Amino acid sequence: MLGGKSYILRGSVSLALVTLILLVITLLVSEDNPLHTSLFDVKRQFTASSSSSVCNFAKGRWVKDRNRPLYSGFECKQWLSTMWSCRVMGRPDFSFEGYRWQPQGCNMPDFDRFTFLKRMQNKTIAFIGDSLGRQQFQSLMCMATGGEDSPEVQNVGWEYGLVKPKGAIRPDGWAYRFPTTNTTILYYWSASLSDLVPMNNTDPPRLTAMHLDRPPSFMRNYLHSFDVLVLNTGHHWNRGKIEGNHWVMHVNGTQVEGEFLKDIKDAKDFTIRSVAKWLDAQLPLHPRLKAFFRTISPRHFRNGDWNTGGNCNNTVPLSRGSEITGEDADGSVDKTVESAVNGTRIKILDITALSELRDEAHISGSKLKPRKPKKVSNVTSTPPIVNDCLHWCLPGIPDTWNELFIAQI
Ligand SMILES: *[C@@H]1O[C@H](CO)[C@@H](O)[C@H](O)[C@H]1NC(C)=O
Ligand SMILES: *[C@@H]1O[C@H](CO)[C@@H](O)[C@H](O)[C@H]1NC(C)=O
Ligand SMILES: *[C@@H]1O[C@H](CO)[C@@H](O)[C@H](O)[C@H]1NC(C)=O
Ligand SMILES: *[C@@H]1O[C@H](CO)[C@@H](O)[C@H](O)[C@H]1NC(C)=O
Ligand SMILES: *[C@@H]1O[C@H](CO)[C@@H](O)[C@H](O)[C@H]1NC(C)=O
Ligand SMILES: *[C@@H]1O[C@H](CO)[C@@H](O)[C@H](O)[C@H]1NC(C)=O
Ligand SMILES: *[C@@H]1O[C@H](CO)[C@@H](O)[C@H](O)[C@H]1NC(C)=O
Repeated sequence: MLGGKSYILRGSVSLALVTLILLVITLLVSEDNPLHTSLFDVKRQFTASSSSSVCNFAKGRWVKDRNRPLYSGFECKQWLSTMWSCRVMGRPDFSFEGYRWQPQGCNMPDFDRFTFLKRMQNKTIAFIGDSLGRQQFQSLMCMATGGEDSPEVQNVGWEYGLVKPKGAIRPDGWAYRFPTTNTTILYYWSASLSDLVPMNNTDPPRLTAMHLDRPPSFMRNYLHSFDVLVLNTGHHWNRGKIEGNHWVMHVNGTQVEGEFLKDIKDAKDFTIRSVAKWLDAQLPLHPRLKAFFRTISPRHFRNGDWNTGGNCNNTVPLSRGSEITGEDADGSVDKTVESAVNGTRIKILDITALSELRDEAHISGSKLKPRKPKKVSNVTSTPPIVNDCLHWCLPGIPDTWNELFIAQI
């Protein structure tokens, strides 16, 4: 195998040696090594028996952990958006990085990326949702690579049509494959989990039909190739976003009027129920697919919001408490997702209450460096700094969401 690498230059011999050593280590931790296999099996049986029906991962407490974070916000540049890497963005305090979630009465093994990738051999994990879903995707990429540069990881976006269209800022998603285990992790941007179809002959143009009762076509087209699917939506269900995106709500193929539009929350609830119902009906046709619906990620704006100078400037961890007890967590805070998946085979990934306790872990509070000035026609303007109390610093809270869903696969 190495013989084929005759193109290696003399100067790169040491690199080749390092590669060889890494290869040997990889083989040692691989499932082909009998010692390794038995260790993992014991661990797996242990977790399987303890994660039985009694376990509710949403109950528990945040505990200090010296082994956190799981990766470095400086190092994971390959996967992490700069704006979400609070270390790169110059936030001065990092105590928020030093906690893990301890579910009450459930055994949640420490995350180990090699164990994780082995378990996910030949499997595809898909995230479909809004920017909070994208945060969870970036977090999982960093967790799976340990935040280390990983040139061996392949960009396979083209297999899913995830290529940047001409003139677009970015593709609609990303897909990456770990060649050692043939594990694919992907993300598709669908803020509303509904099918968006450009409308023809509309005045004004650029209107998009938003079919509330149809899942995004990406999901319909590629569902057969997923082994794990994590859905989320929520923060785009407001009049500003819907009008700003020129979305026109449709049900049964026709534009909905009056009643339906009175309250956008009703449209959101209807869509979440529709997509859950559709997915549940698909599951028997895809027996290997494990589907999760993630509950809403809480915002922590105080004294306003994005546009009116709201902030979340607390930097002291767990000042809202550290625990979600039995009574708090009898049901999810997110009644919409909870009731939509009730009675289906879709699992709830209930992260709302535990994330609610972590108001100090958002982007806001960091001393954001001014973003690159934007050249608007002949004027150079620096966009104003907004306090982002919606997205989370990475590493951070979305890492825990991933640990929770991995424990429940
Ligand atoms: C990778 O996994 C896919 C899906 O299970 C499978 O079809 C494919 O053959 C695997 N490829 C390799 C090289 O193992
Ligand atoms: C992965 O896929 C390859 C190719 O199809 C197959 O040879 C191998 O046994 C599979 N491994 C697992 C763990 O499913
Ligand atoms: C718009 O036009 C295209 C091509 O004529 C057609 O395929 C598509 O179904 C139309 N879409 C709608 C929403 O009518
Ligand atoms: C869509 O069609 C179904 C079944 O025909 C009907 O029950 C429902 O009221 C319709 N919804 C809307 C908003 O038109
Ligand atoms: C945090 O925000 C509150 C409310 O906007 C403000 O009164 C307070 O001075 C701020 N604290 C710091 C340390 O910036
Ligand atoms: C789930 O469905 C059952 C049966 O319809 C119902 O009794 C229960 O209240 C529902 N639970 C939630 C949380 O919606
Ligand atoms: C920018 O261009 C507009 C129209 O060409 C002109 O009126 C204006 O003075 C220019 N502004 C600056 C700052 O040069």
